[in-house]
Amino acid sequence: MPSASLRLAVAVVGAGAAGLVAARELRREGHTPVVFERAAAVGGTWLYTAPATSSDPLGAAATHSSLYASLRTNLPRETMGFLDFPFAAGAAAGSRDPHRFPGHEEVLRYLEAFARRFDLLRLVRFETEVLSVRREDGGRWAVTSRKLGEKGSGDEEFYDAVVVCNGHYTEPRIAVIPGVDAWPGKQMHSHNYRVPEPFLDQVVMVIGASASAFDISRDIASMAEEVHIADRSAPASTCKKQPGYDNLWLHSMIDHAQEDGTVVFQDGSSIKADVIMHCTGYLYDFPFLGDDSTITVDDNRVDPLYKHIFPPEVAPHLSFIGLPWKVIPFPLFELGPKWVARVLSGRIKLPSKDKMMEDGKAFYLKLEARGLPKRYTHNFSNYQFEYDDWLAEQCGHPPMEERRKQMYAVNSMNKAARPESYRDEWDDEHLVAEANEYFKKFL
Ligand SMILES: Cc1cc2nc3c(=O)[nH]c(=O)nc-3n(C[C@H](O)[C@H](O)[C@H](O)COP(=O)(O)OP(=O)(O)OC[C@H]3O[C@@H](n4cnc5c(N)ncnc54)[C@H](O)[C@@H]3O)c2cc1C
Ligand SMILES: *[C@@H]1O[C@H](CO)[C@@H](O)[C@H](O)[C@H]1NC(C)=O
Repeated sequence: MPSASLRLAVAVVGAGAAGLVAARELRREGHTPVVFERAAAVGGTWLYTAPATSSDPLGAAATHSSLYASLRTNLPRETMGFLDFPFAAGAAAGSRDPHRFPGHEEVLRYLEAFARRFDLLRLVRFETEVLSVRREDGGRWAVTSRKLGEKGSGDEEFYDAVVVCNGHYTEPRIAVIPGVDAWPGKQMHSHNYRVPEPFLDQVVMVIGASASAFDISRDIASMAEEVHIADRSAPASTCKKQPGYDNLWLHSMIDHAQEDGTVVFQDGSSIKADVIMHCTGYLYDFPFLGDDSTITVDDNRVDPLYKHIFPPEVAPHLSFIGLPWKVIPFPLFELGPKWVARVLSGRIKLPSKDKMMEDGKAFYLKLEARGLPKRYTHNFSNYQFEYDDWLAEQCGHPPMEERRKQMYAVNSMNKAARPESYRDEWDDEHLVAEANEYFKKFL
């Protein structure tokens, strides 16, 4: 490959999986990345914080991540890892949990090993929060950051480009429940859920129907008197006891909550609950970006963006890595900055501003034609692999391994069919063997 012509100073916001791999790809292309991380360590989501008595159990509560103690991955490790740094048991330095769907600590160890292997730690400024990112005349970006514990308005520095990797699992989205202000129970968001013990003998209402809503419900059911899941997609008079449990039920959505402590479902039935746990997801949030970033967030659509990465108006000097969800995150995060780094160096040319805008609009029209709401804009469940392979092709990188895609499909089916046991029983041993054989060349 021809060597890159432009070598830029690039600020990367965040040292989670996305920021780490972005730093690696930028440096590989000859740029000089500086990674800003407000935590004291790498890992982002995977940095578990011990149970806290949050003063605001519904809120973002400072900066901690959203992990709960019992969390195991919902992807098998052969699927989940970066493309060229296998998440193999025993391979990642310090690996201590050989499960195929390991506990969260193992993922952190993997990311730490990734950072060490590619010598990324010295690129990171820890305990340094980015307060603002502003575009200057002449196209440079002013990045203002502040060290933890320091007062004042922070230090301003200038970069040629900024890559935003700030994650999107910290700003809680809360369900709107009529009457809940007068309801006397306790509300919290799954962001602040850690362990089931505080729910001993309580009646807990869990709102949400995602994998994490069900995982957390089962976790709580081990301690609580009763757990009731309210699922807005369930038919109106649903009231189903969950197989294998005496104290876990599935219901339709809540209609309202009352002053006497009851929570009323859409069919008029009700229960008296002590706690409402919102497992209702998160919001994209870029508090450090101003209007000059040219993007807005409306109903969880980050707009306008070309291929979910570049705001056309300021491309390629501002980019976003990690917005898509319902994906295999790490490899998708890896392909994005491969593309960004090559565009920044001038090896790859973007289409014109107008063409990029048109592409984004055409995508929205497709969503609309299929009746999908705005908030599904970055929900990639139907086209993540098409997208991954498009990015790979731009960069002259081979498409994602077919086996990884197959494994993902098998796992999705197993997860839906056997949500409680898919992490310990599977039927794709042949794919695992093939993957491990393939990974040998990277070890
Ligand atoms: C409960 C849960 C379970 C999950 N399970 C899986 C799984 O099994 N498998 C899987 O592959 N994925 C899973 N995910 C998805 C997971 O979030 C991604 O794998 C990935 O870790 C996201 O990485 P990220 O770098 O985009 O964001 P994050 O990990 O959130 O990292 C963002 C980083 O940016 C930093 N930051 C933010 N703002 C600033 C600022 N202004 N200044 C400085 N630093 C800043 C944060 O401190 C953080 O370190 C799960 C997520 C959750 C919430
Ligand atoms: C994501 O999109 C798919 C199809 O486009 C849809 O079936 C699914 O319900 C969406 N997921 C969530 C959690 O909204």
